[in-house]
Amino acid sequence: MKVLIATEKPFAPEAVEQIRGIFDDAGYETVLLEKYASKDELLTAVKGVDALIVRSDKVDAAVLDAADTLKIVVRAGAGYDNIDLEAATAKGVVVMNTPGQNSNAVAELALGMMVYMARNLFNGKPGTELKGKTLGIHAYGHVGREVARIARGFGMETLAYDPFVSKTDIINDGTKPVDTVEELYERSRYVSLHIPANDQTRRSVSYDLLSRMPKGATLVNTARKEVVDEESLLRMFRERDDFRYVSDIAPDCADEIAREFPGRFFFTPKKMGAQTAEANINAGVAAARQIVKFFEKGDTTFQVNK
Ligand code: 3PG
Repeated sequence: MKVLIATEKPFAPEAVEQIRGIFDDAGYETVLLEKYASKDELLTAVKGVDALIVRSDKVDAAVLDAADTLKIVVRAGAGYDNIDLEAATAKGVVVMNTPGQNSNAVAELALGMMVYMARNLFNGKPGTELKGKTLGIHAYGHVGREVARIARGFGMETLAYDPFVSKTDIINDGTKPVDTVEELYERSRYVSLHIPANDQTRRSVSYDLLSRMPKGATLVNTARKEVVDEESLLRMFRERDDFRYVSDIAPDCADEIAREFPGRFFFTPKKMGAQTAEANINAGVAAARQIVKFFEKGDTTFQVNK
């Protein structure tokens, strides 16, 4: 078996080493394509491989067509909006993710960005504390749960809205479930987004929701930039001088925000949530193990295009 690790944003070297170790033990060949500058490099590299590990790398119909012997692609991470599931299914290619493996890293970044914004980007002026503030967690999956755990350590009150998670599970964690998404925004000085990007959620964080947030509102986005409606975002910045936005990757309207609303935003230059050695090792090793189990035992536990 030949496995390609194609990561435009490379894994930590320790993660690559451990992934290689797993494939060496299984008798598989590992090929590494990192920091590739053009899609053509990826199209060439996928030829003749049986399995592919990616991060946020775009695996579209063209990549799947070029991958003439591909059987499985594993997104080492949570969100698989970068993979064309329909095209993969049509070609009989199994797609998996590695849920939960990088969630602590993302959660730590969410809280880190909240502290940074609460302290006025460390500009020397008095800021505010997280203790005693309410944090609304929009979707209570792996990352949302980790965010709640850390936020409680800061002394925050945590609320969650997630129609797919049982209220008992949320309550058992020490978080309060709310019945509607509107209520979440109404009650939360901080809202942290953990919804996936799909046809239902794209641009769903709208003016109607954001304008419900109380005074001193900060929106925290470690999910995907696409889930926030940017017209609504700009309107909030214009109408509410208390509104702030921190996001792991800049929105398309970042230049406008930077020009007109300095000091009220922070955007990472690249998606940084899962960019820790630990998260890379966890997600990369999980991806490698899932590939070996798939080929050796037919295991499809984490398949997302069933
Ligand atoms: C995820 O969906 O797992 C995160 O957004 C991490 O993405 P990355 O692997 O590109 O850093």
